[in-house]
Amino acid sequence: MILCRTKTELQDALKAQGANPIIGFVPTMGALHEGHLALVRQAKRENEVVVVSVFVNPIQFNNSEDLEKYPKDLERDLDLLKEVGCDIVFAPDNAEMYPEKPTEIYNFGALETVMEGAFRPGHFNGVAVVVKRLFDLVKPTTAYFGEKDFQQLAIIRALVEQENLAVEIVGCPTVREHDGLAMSSRNTRLSEEDRRIAPQIYKILRDSRDLVDVFTPVQLKTFAEEQLKKIPRTKLEYFEIVNAKTLQPIENWEDCRRRIACVAIWLGDVRLIDNVKI
Ligand code: PAJ
Repeated sequence: MILCRTKTELQDALKAQGANPIIGFVPTMGALHEGHLALVRQAKRENEVVVVSVFVNPIQFNNSEDLEKYPKDLERDLDLLKEVGCDIVFAPDNAEMYPEKPTEIYNFGALETVMEGAFRPGHFNGVAVVVKRLFDLVKPTTAYFGEKDFQQLAIIRALVEQENLAVEIVGCPTVREHDGLAMSSRNTRLSEEDRRIAPQIYKILRDSRDLVDVFTPVQLKTFAEEQLKKIPRTKLEYFEIVNAKTLQPIENWEDCRRRIACVAIWLGDVRLIDNVKI
């Protein structure tokens, strides 16, 4: 496995793979867990060369405390990536990624005005800036993203379409802990007590899924919000039932075929997101 800290090192490592290799790419912010590794394993099965980026992208954080407290452990990440057969790791620093203040502005329309976009202003522009730059450097055949960040996946698909990029985007299912909690780098920041409470979030999502025949979407939203607000030490940001394609809230089950329930909730001082198909 080759570790590249600069764009030049990355270009050299890619050149050394021969002419036009089939490249699978997994962008990450490090502090890797099984959710990330599942993406890398799938990339490994489907490509000749696997590239993983590890970069805590400062411009997608709208909360400076979240950025400061974001877990980092490159040595551990490298060990894990070696184990799953990653070929090239790109781990630039801020100056390498942003020699100048980035000025790109993207417009994702209604996709970015709801949920994460509404509560984290500028977040998706920051994601799009870094992912576009990484795609330009790595030139992947296929890039892998988790459905855990469902709205991000939709934004990336829109980015590829808008910019006419020659990369296939693959969405991968959410990997969960045994108790149902969606794996997240931020889970390591939960206190022991909060970690015990956290699985209740997914349980309420699952219960909601089972109530489709009983409630309208609007009733189900109210029900889930009430349940989520009862979890101790939490502050609910949103619970939405949306069209999986447009990400707009639905009023009738018949409005669309693919629907998804999405939640963002603070547990202590950690912000968690999760979703289920409904
Ligand atoms: P990060 O949160 O590190 O996630 C990297 C990738 O792993 C994303 O595609 C995310 O959806 C996926 N992922 C995280 N937890 C997962 C889980 N439990 N199951 C399945 N996949 C999971 O998302 C980012 O980084 C950044 O926004 C990035 C795209 C790298 C741009 O900076």
